[in-house]
Amino acid sequence: MQLPYKTALITGATSGIGEAFARKLPSSTHLILTGRNSLKLRELQDELQTETRKVDIIQADLAQSEGIEDLLMAVQSHSVDLFINNAGLGQYGAHADHTLQAEMHMIKVNVGAVTHLSHALCPTMARHNGPAAMIVVASVAAFMPLPYFATYAATKTYDLHLAESLAEEYKGSGLHIMALCPGPTRTNFGERSGMSGDSPEASYMDVNDVVDECLKGLERKKRVVVPGWQNKVLAQLPRFMPRRLGNMIAGIVVQRTRPSA
Ligand SMILES: NC(=O)c1ccc[n+]([C@@H]2O[C@H](COP(=O)([O-])OP(=O)(O)OC[C@H]3O[C@@H](n4cnc5c(N)ncnc54)[C@H](OP(=O)(O)O)[C@@H]3O)[C@@H](O)[C@H]2O)c1
Repeated sequence: MQLPYKTALITGATSGIGEAFARKLPSSTHLILTGRNSLKLRELQDELQTETRKVDIIQADLAQSEGIEDLLMAVQSHSVDLFINNAGLGQYGAHADHTLQAEMHMIKVNVGAVTHLSHALCPTMARHNGPAAMIVVASVAAFMPLPYFATYAATKTYDLHLAESLAEEYKGSGLHIMALCPGPTRTNFGERSGMSGDSPEASYMDVNDVVDECLKGLERKKRVVVPGWQNKVLAQLPRFMPRRLGNMIAGIVVQRTRPSA
């Protein structure tokens, strides 16, 4: 894969999609990995660092503004030219059953941190001497309201719209911006968000396939990558049905993924 980037910052690198990016980027790319799990960060550093590749790790909680500021301070001395704005979480279930604290926590990470980091890093990356890119990890949930995953889907719509708008604003600079919109992917996300119910296994994609398709899209300078044909169909469906019918079907489908316990 011909990717020109020299220094990649990956948020949410300790697991799932972020970890797969860390493993899949060319071995010539210097990695800056961040997450809260310091043990996992150290393991990845030991595994991925070589004589020719440096791996820096930064522990930061992106739900806290101090965590974001610490991360920005730590990357200041690096010339980041690939930013994978990936860290995020979901919360499955009826809106009224969630605590407000949990909802606001999700918004802080999925919206607040994504915005704060883009705002701080994009102008510098656009001035970078050479090509630069930011990938915002949204979701196929960004294309439609999702009852029982309401706030999560809303945060991901925000991420998709932010990425597409910034892609237009930075057009013509050296900075390319794209949104990655995966559908269900085998990571820790399902279990962490409490939705390990009875979704058919076939509807889940392998995390390596998701990242491969994303990096191919990045090579071709795509603006939005929806990995997998099923997800591509899903992303287009809301355009072809009345919104209320779409909301009802989405609610039925999402409810089927409730934890079986
Ligand atoms: N898996 C799916 O089905 C799916 C589908 C569509 C979109 N996505 C999106 O893909 C992205 C990655 O999710 P994943 O599937 O890889 O899930 P995952 O395996 O649970 O990984 C989530 C990552 O986000 C980090 N993170 C969560 N809260 C954080 C916080 N407060 N501060 C710093 N880092 C935090 C976690 O790091 P620590 O635990 O170390 O803090 C972890 O590295 C998310 O934005 C998610 O919305 C996932």
